Amino acid sequence: MTATTASVVAGDGAGTTPMALAAEGITVRFGGLTALNSVSIEVAPGAIAGLVGPNGAGKSTLLGVLSGLLRPNAGART
Ligand SMILES: Nc1ncnc2c1ncn2[C@@H]1O[C@H](COP(=O)(O)OP(=O)(O)OP(=O)(O)O)[C@@H](O)[C@H]1O
Ligand SMILES: [Mg+2]
Repeated sequence: MTATTASVVAGDGAGTTPMALAAEGITVRFGGLTALNSVSIEVAPGAIAGLVGPNGAGKSTLLGVLSGLLRPNAGART
């Protein structure tokens, strides 16, 4: 599943709630390997969101970006 474009939304669907967590177009490359390819995520305040995927899908890489430990090659927390 590495290098898969993904979009995750755990908000109110209406775009009216300020998100507790949001990022858009996150791309992370490790050399020639694209670990995340334009991943977007929104989590509303109070929402409980799961991040599921097979080994190597990029879950830890995404959390690294969201926590500020990793700088993405493209995209940003919003
Ligand atoms: N620091 C790194 N240097 C090079 N490649 C990396 C690095 N970190 C992760 N990768 C690669 O990026 C891809 C995504 O890895 P990641 O650890 O984010 O997946 P994961 O979904 O957390 O996997 P797991 O379920 O095994 O924890 C994998 O191909 C992995 O080998
Ligand atoms: Mg992991």
